[in-house]
Amino acid sequence: MKALVLAGGVGSRMRPITHTSAKQLIPIANKPVLYYGLEAIREAGIREVGIIVGNTAPEIERAVGDGSQFGLDVTYLPQDAPRGLGHAVLIARDYLDEDDFVMYLGDNFVVGGISDVVDRFRRERPHAQLMLTRVKNPHAFGVAEIGQGGQVIGVEEKPLHPKSDLAVVGVYVFSPAVHEAVAELKPSWRSELEITEAIQRLIDQGRRVESTTITGFWKDTGNLADMLEMNQFVLNGIDSAESGSVSADTELTGRVVVGPGAVVSGSRIVGPVVVGAGSVIRNSYLGPFTSIDRDCTVVDSEIEQSIVLCGACIEGVGRIEWSMIGREARVVPGPRGPKTYRFVLGDHSEVRVGA
Ligand code: TTP
Repeated sequence: MKALVLAGGVGSRMRPITHTSAKQLIPIANKPVLYYGLEAIREAGIREVGIIVGNTAPEIERAVGDGSQFGLDVTYLPQDAPRGLGHAVLIARDYLDEDDFVMYLGDNFVVGGISDVVDRFRRERPHAQLMLTRVKNPHAFGVAEIGQGGQVIGVEEKPLHPKSDLAVVGVYVFSPAVHEAVAELKPSWRSELEITEAIQRLIDQGRRVESTTITGFWKDTGNLADMLEMNQFVLNGIDSAESGSVSADTELTGRVVVGPGAVVSGSRIVGPVVVGAGSVIRNSYLGPFTSIDRDCTVVDSEIEQSIVLCGACIEGVGRIEWSMIGREARVVPGPRGPKTYRFVLGDHSEVRVGA
């Protein structure tokens, strides 16, 4: 069995971060989202992985390399534009050959991994196996309709009137039967080749499409709230580790990771929090669910429930919360005087100032 990991796309909901960086490489607890997926694939006993890449190919290739750091053998499959999940399967046809494969959306995070669903596929050998989860707002997802024995009898993309509350998670297992269905796809109203349509074709042809409903945490990290929620979830599972230097006038509460070469002084940190290698935290407060990546500076400031990317500098600012601060970004006070705001914001940025 192979894996097909989708790491192309536009990431429009994560702008401006995705103007300069791949969505799949946004760090969650200081580790790129994509790495969690690659580790789950390896754990499921799969070695050969094709990664679909788009505009951000060089960055993804730098981060993943030949895959050996994960125990994987990675091949890159360039996609000229984000023409849909079905299109990704279409262009991977030669790579996938006649093998079964797991299709894994590179921005998805599934707690508990994918080994159960892969094992079940290997045992029962249906034509396709979907991973489902119950959601409160099914109209925002691909939704599956299930028959008596758990067999999938219909799938619809973002339906107005969902037939169930079972959303399709971004992990699918396919037999080579899917290629015929994908080859017949026509672009949808959003000009994409839709994988849900290919799955519906399999069902219409009388092929066996099975499902596994998971109850653990799952996140499709499409927007900021999703990223922060996933960050919160992963940080909840960390253990304390201090490889940097923490001065005696610093108070650490709860689980806190201080990376190698990081220097923390005169501060209060309430975990779970991770501070990346080489970062400096001085006279500041870091609150729960905060990930500070490597080589950041936080001085005379307060921040919680946030993700700070590498090299960012936060100096002399009051409480920041529920935020993502991009690479090498600077958040500093303006000159004394009337209360004004001064910004240099990237395209599609969003700033929320206190009323
Ligand atoms: P999406 O989140 O649906 O698309 P996107 O990443 O372009 O984001 P947005 O909607 O905010 O613009 O894609 C799911 C995953 O699949 C994501 O990791 C990107 C990847 N993908 C491809 O590799 N090729 C494609 O053609 C599409 C549509 C997505």
